[in-house]
Amino acid sequence: MSATRSLVTGVGGYLPAEIVTNDDLAQTVDTSDAWIQERTGIRQRRRAAKDEATSDLAVEAARRALAAAGRTPADLDLIIVATTTPDLTFPATAAIVQRKLGAPVGVAFDVQAVCSGFVYALAVADGFVARGQSRCALVIGAEIMTRLLDYQDRTTCVLFGDGAGAFVLEPGAGQGTKADRGLLATALRCDGTKQDLLYVDGGPSTSGAVGHLRMAGQQVFRHAVVNIAEAVRAAADAAGVDMAEVDWFIPHQANQRILQGVAHRLGIEESRVVSTVAEHANTSAASIPLALDAAMADGRIGPGALLILEAMGGGLTWGAATLRL
Ligand SMILES: CC(C)(COP(=O)(O)OP(=O)(O)OC[C@H]1O[C@@H](n2cnc3c(N)ncnc32)[C@H](O)[C@@H]1OP(=O)(O)O)[C@@H](O)C(=O)NCCC(=O)NCCS
Repeated sequence: MSATRSLVTGVGGYLPAEIVTNDDLAQTVDTSDAWIQERTGIRQRRRAAKDEATSDLAVEAARRALAAAGRTPADLDLIIVATTTPDLTFPATAAIVQRKLGAPVGVAFDVQAVCSGFVYALAVADGFVARGQSRCALVIGAEIMTRLLDYQDRTTCVLFGDGAGAFVLEPGAGQGTKADRGLLATALRCDGTKQDLLYVDGGPSTSGAVGHLRMAGQQVFRHAVVNIAEAVRAAADAAGVDMAEVDWFIPHQANQRILQGVAHRLGIEESRVVSTVAEHANTSAASIPLALDAAMADGRIGPGALLILEAMGGGLTWGAATLRL
């Protein structure tokens, strides 16, 4: 049965220039490089410059993804930005990105599912592409998480970094089988009863302030390993894909121990898991496209590869996508 698939025709990433090491953080908060590396695998993270906004990071990643796809901003009819750190309460960061890219009038909006945002945004964009409502879509994950951190709280301020990653999606004809290129299936979840485990303690209709990130780390950790594995299996089953066929696993980069725990539960060897957490830390919605960009840039992943993307974040939200490049 023929099917319109959303093909990923370009991938791009952007990291701000400033590197913040664990030792840098240990100058101002009671922590150490050894503790952070042992518990999380993180060695460093990037921090956006004072005059950089989330849309600036998004635009850089978008330009690189468009170049990889052989497209220009003039081709775009849909821009979705997954972010939890928008430039402004409104308009959507996607509208700002559209203006900065010089893209024509089209559809542009943000998706807010925190660290799961990129997987959610891909699923939403796929709906537009599959229904013939988009010929060239940009899906961006962009975050300046360092502006949500409480630098007095060592349990959270060491975990996050800034960055952006983007996919260009275009329609392609498929047969409706797992041999097709493009997005094959997604599985999305949210359990709002667990919102107190990971949240920001501010917002326009409550405190009127931006607020700081708060987290019950151990509980989030336990939830992540069990539930991500379930969503990954659901996204693989929906595509008719067996875990042994998956070439590469592209997880959200929160913690090396979570990556390993999920992969172990699914029977995926570490050699098939892309990990950038050591260099990027947790860049929330940006982490999946940044990880794929890194693995494509060094030649590990290329056209035809069968991938599973997964993430978990505040909400709690989580989800997975099966994708053939
Ligand atoms: C946050 C996390 C790294 C903490 O690791 P942990 O092994 O669970 O550590 P604990 O919370 O049990 O804390 C152990 C001790 O380390 C201390 N500690 C916490 N952060 C520290 C830091 N940055 N440096 C040094 N010590 C730290 C704690 O205060 C605690 O001390 P105590 O025993 O004297 O009370 C871990 O729980 C985690 O990664 N959770 C998931 C977080 C995540 O990825 N969230 C985002 C999902 S999108």
